[in-house]
Amino acid sequence: MNMTPEEREIGRQNFLEASGMTRRTFLKSAAAAPSLGAAYFGYEQLKGNPVKVGWIGTGDEGSILLTQHPPEYMDIVAVADIRPSNLKRAFTGDGNDDRVGLIKKLGDKKSKTIKRYADHKELLADPEIEAVVIAVPLNVHASIAIDALKAGKHVLAEKLMAKTIGECKEMIRVSKQENKLLAIGHQRHYSVLYDNAADLIRTGALGDIKFIRACWHRNNSWPGVDSWNKKVPPEDKEALDAKVKGYGFDSVEQLCRWRLFSKTGGGLMAELGSHQLDASSIFLGKKHPIAVMGYGGRNFYGVKGVGSKDKQSDPREIDDHVYVTLEFPGQHYDEDKNDIVIVTYSSINTNQLEPYGETVYGSRGTMITEKEQSLLLFKENGPGGDAGGVGQRLRTVSKANGGGAVLEASASLAPSSAAAIAGSTMDKVSRGYTEEMEHFAWSIRNNIPLDTPIEQRGLRCPGKVAMADAIMALVCNKAMALKKRIVFKEEWFDPDSTATPEEDEQMKV
Ligand SMILES: NC(=O)c1ccc[n+]([C@@H]2O[C@H](COP(=O)([O-])OP(=O)(O)OC[C@H]3O[C@@H](n4cnc5c(N)ncnc54)[C@H](O)[C@@H]3O)[C@@H](O)[C@H]2O)c1
Repeated sequence: MNMTPEEREIGRQNFLEASGMTRRTFLKSAAAAPSLGAAYFGYEQLKGNPVKVGWIGTGDEGSILLTQHPPEYMDIVAVADIRPSNLKRAFTGDGNDDRVGLIKKLGDKKSKTIKRYADHKELLADPEIEAVVIAVPLNVHASIAIDALKAGKHVLAEKLMAKTIGECKEMIRVSKQENKLLAIGHQRHYSVLYDNAADLIRTGALGDIKFIRACWHRNNSWPGVDSWNKKVPPEDKEALDAKVKGYGFDSVEQLCRWRLFSKTGGGLMAELGSHQLDASSIFLGKKHPIAVMGYGGRNFYGVKGVGSKDKQSDPREIDDHVYVTLEFPGQHYDEDKNDIVIVTYSSINTNQLEPYGETVYGSRGTMITEKEQSLLLFKENGPGGDAGGVGQRLRTVSKANGGGAVLEASASLAPSSAAAIAGSTMDKVSRGYTEEMEHFAWSIRNNIPLDTPIEQRGLRCPGKVAMADAIMALVCNKAMALKKRIVFKEEWFDPDSTATPEEDEQMKV
């Protein structure tokens, strides 16, 4: 949405004003100091020794997690990667602030003690390791996580949980059988910003919500800028050419560009859309969707002479533009089936005007999340001429006679200096990576059982929760491929049922 800087600042201030009735103090403090995540999310500072952790996969995301890992909770004893270039980068970093490398993060002395393994199997044989963080391509999520659980390690694995729902169910089954924790890295469950947003929605301040629009738009239309179509480092090619098939990849090119291929990736829905359907469902009370329709295509890279000149420079099999529409149950759906909330999601590769995020449209207000960093809130115009819209500051959130929250506008149009301060504080908000690792380690040390509810300090994104996100993303892919409306079935979401979308009769052409 196009807004002036002043309007954006008003939106941020509005959100802080409104969240004052929920957790304003915490929002500000947790945003300023992510280490306060423990107090915010209900776990505690770790007493006793940090958990001894091994890292499996030190690519782009594994290196970000290494940079943000909490040393007070996690003692890294080993890292493993089959690509020599990424194993090296885990220590040296790559000049990017998000991936500073272990030497800078932990110092030369400690880094020298960290063992380096050539693959996950070598690392899992190390008896010193209690838990693993897994950040590998999607096609090997399930097999590596299951190997780790069977080797007696607790697992924190990156999203998307797995490539099929059958695999997700097997991961949950094995974690129960081995009595080891299984957490999945959908970090919005540990974002203070998202938690405050969900809190505000629960108060009813936005009124009746009928529509959420989520998007992640990027512009990769210039040659060479697509980070998913990476160059293959010669040292990786040399080291892996003869043995890459043994690791589940047809070639070193496929390993390095795994997101582009049907065998190894899950497309834009798995990589980007899963996060935002996760966020949308958090806003709607973590309800499961009813049905989905969609369109996806290789509308840029697939067009001759436009996005791709030849198969060699762009071997992509996945869609580069996706658009899906999901029906979710509204608050009163159980009593009246007309109460439907529509969530639309688009991810495109040819325009990036809008920052990625979600816009929640309610009958009394609009909430916008941007880049996991900002939250903007605006009031709707009232019936008697009381103003709303992007230029209007909120004075307060009050209680209506019926008990629900109501957004009230103030006369002032200018953002206050307090707003500017609050806004800049919000810029430092943690995306949730550190908190998810802290909570995982704390749960291990405190023997928190796998199925413990969130209210009793359980993991916020265990297998069952993450499986629901995987179901949404993968069924969206199916709806686009089959060009038909697919109805979600409750038994797909039940880890104890053997039913899966991939085996469902709706998936037959
Ligand atoms: N939570 C988020 O916001 C977020 C963001 C980006 C990526 N991710 C997820 O993180 C995962 C990794 O993504 P990435 O961008 O780091 O990919 P990447 O290709 O940069 O890194 C993956 C690494 O795994 C290694 N690997 C593969 N098989 C292995 C094995 N058997 N043993 C040891 N190492 C092995 C590869 O060699 C590679 O270095 C994916 O599942 C992705 O979806 C999550």
